[in-house]
Amino acid sequence: MHKKIAVYPGSFDPLTNGHIDIIRRACRLFDKVVTAIVLNPNKQNSLFSVDERLDMLANAIDGKTNLEFDSFEGLLVDYADQINADVIIRGIRAFSDFEYEMQMALMNKRLSDELETVFLMPREEHTYVSSRLVKEIASLGGSVNGLVHPYVEQQLIKKFGN
Ligand code: PNS
Repeated sequence: MHKKIAVYPGSFDPLTNGHIDIIRRACRLFDKVVTAIVLNPNKQNSLFSVDERLDMLANAIDGKTNLEFDSFEGLLVDYADQINADVIIRGIRAFSDFEYEMQMALMNKRLSDELETVFLMPREEHTYVSSRLVKEIASLGGSVNGLVHPYVEQQLIKKFGN
């Protein structure tokens, strides 16, 4: 039988508990999930390098035999084709995510008709967590405990030196 492969693309700068929640759900739904860090040329001001982000993924999520981590440059549809993915996973937190996500899903559909986007909702307690806010809070010395995995929290503390 054809194995269903899902790609979960994103910046993951850094990985939040919301992302971890989505990854766990995706792993239950698909035969293989590839969490892929996108090297976005428009986001040169990322806090963590791709290697640091991959390291955080590997340290914060374990025990998932059908999960892989990777990074790529270029179009998501091309990468999905390269790894034989059937599905793109995206998390939707609030209504405010909807317009951007719908635009991307429809554009990706136009670029690759074979690929489907599947939206998953994180648990309620993760709906207001975002990498952007986590970075802002950590940079100003606030606690991000409970918003990110303890390993990610450590890396943020190291990065900001507080
Ligand atoms: O976590 P993010 O930053 O919201 O993820 C956005 C991401 C990386 C999924 C999106 O920017 C993307 O797919 N980039 C790859 C380049 C691409 O295919 N662009 C066209 C998207 S319609």
